[in-house]
Amino acid sequence: MILVSVLVLCSVVAVRSSPHADLVAQLAKSDSRIAHDILEDASLDVPELVRKYGYPLEVHDVVTQDGYILGVHRIPHGRDRNNKPGPRPVVFLMHGLFSSSADWVVKGPGCSFAYILAEEGFDVWMGNARGTYYSRRHLTLNPNSKRTGTFWRFSWDEIGNRDLPAMIDYALAVSGRDGLHYVGHSQGTTVFFVMGSLRPVYNQKILSMHAFAPVAYMAHNENPVFRFLAPYALRIELALSLIGFTEFLPNNQATTWAGQNFCMDDVKWQPLCTNLIFLLAGRNEEQFNATLLPLKLGHTPAGASSRQIIHYAQGIHQNVFRRFNHGTTIGNILAYGTAQPPDYDLSRITAPVYLHYTPNDPLAHLADVERLYKELPNPTKHRVPLNTFNHVDFIWAIDADTLLYYPTIELIKSLDSHFTDK
Ligand SMILES: *[C@@H]1O[C@H](CO)[C@@H](O)[C@H](O)[C@H]1NC(C)=O
Repeated sequence: MILVSVLVLCSVVAVRSSPHADLVAQLAKSDSRIAHDILEDASLDVPELVRKYGYPLEVHDVVTQDGYILGVHRIPHGRDRNNKPGPRPVVFLMHGLFSSSADWVVKGPGCSFAYILAEEGFDVWMGNARGTYYSRRHLTLNPNSKRTGTFWRFSWDEIGNRDLPAMIDYALAVSGRDGLHYVGHSQGTTVFFVMGSLRPVYNQKILSMHAFAPVAYMAHNENPVFRFLAPYALRIELALSLIGFTEFLPNNQATTWAGQNFCMDDVKWQPLCTNLIFLLAGRNEEQFNATLLPLKLGHTPAGASSRQIIHYAQGIHQNVFRRFNHGTTIGNILAYGTAQPPDYDLSRITAPVYLHYTPNDPLAHLADVERLYKELPNPTKHRVPLNTFNHVDFIWAIDADTLLYYPTIELIKSLDSHFTDK
């Protein structure tokens, strides 16, 4: 989920040199087909990438109640199997913090979850939260205005409260269905829990919810960046001055270039990239394909608001799953009518929730997952059958397909009348 240190480090180095000369040299040096594909795929956006591999890809603009314009990506059917257009069950995929819809396609056909789902007969929708590369637009606010920064005044509370309902309603209207299966990774699970508690009517539209690395309570979080920020989390101005007032780590050429120059096979820095990711997301050498690092860094970070990070740090600091604390009594009264922000009421999340978790996840710790499990009305636990599986393995692991994706698909099929009635 987070590559903060590696990216901060890489960006600092990157701005001092000229990216293009090195990139060209790198391309010339690596003559293998794999290296070429990886460099090319790192520079394509999601629609270009998906179409390159022969899959249908639709881009839909979804406008939220508060004016954000979200780029939603859809793979309506498969390429090799289930490849005739037509109605079919919908799976909605929601990425994690600093990520985007790229998470679900970046490893390519046969490996990434979106392609596998399309081949298995699903209509695949991929959301992009406000502030990410594909959703950096608003009817009236300017994301590039550093002066007001109004565009960036949101945390994952708004993503769950505004973005998810808008995208889910849209996907159901276009596909003509009453309900869908939801899969989220990390923050993609947090925003679901926000929606389910603040907008409980949406539980009726969820046939099943699959939480990959569930994040609601974070008290046991072992990520060093979050632990560093937690003590400052209620002093909003101070916290913002530490990490920036508006956008945090936008997608840019610098990180793409850094991934290619520091994290590519044969570059001596690659172990540093790998080790930083293990530090932040849990160690798992066996499931980590470092060859793909430049590709991952071409698509991550995809942009987020600093308040998303501060909101998590608040939860760690106070050991709660609670709405964003605006840092002042008056700010909270204006937002919620109370001096303290209210807790998210998990008892309102009536949708069937499947928690897919692992003991080697510093960001979704076993004790926190257990607490979430106890407080949800309708939960089931699914431990990924590999103890070393880490936080980013849900997206990146070499064996994510056999360990996680196919078992999840079997579960979804067993829960969907389209498959079970036959
Ligand atoms: C790692 O990724 C590369 C590039 O896609 C691929 O050729 C290689 O087989 C992968 N390694 C493993 C162990 O899956």
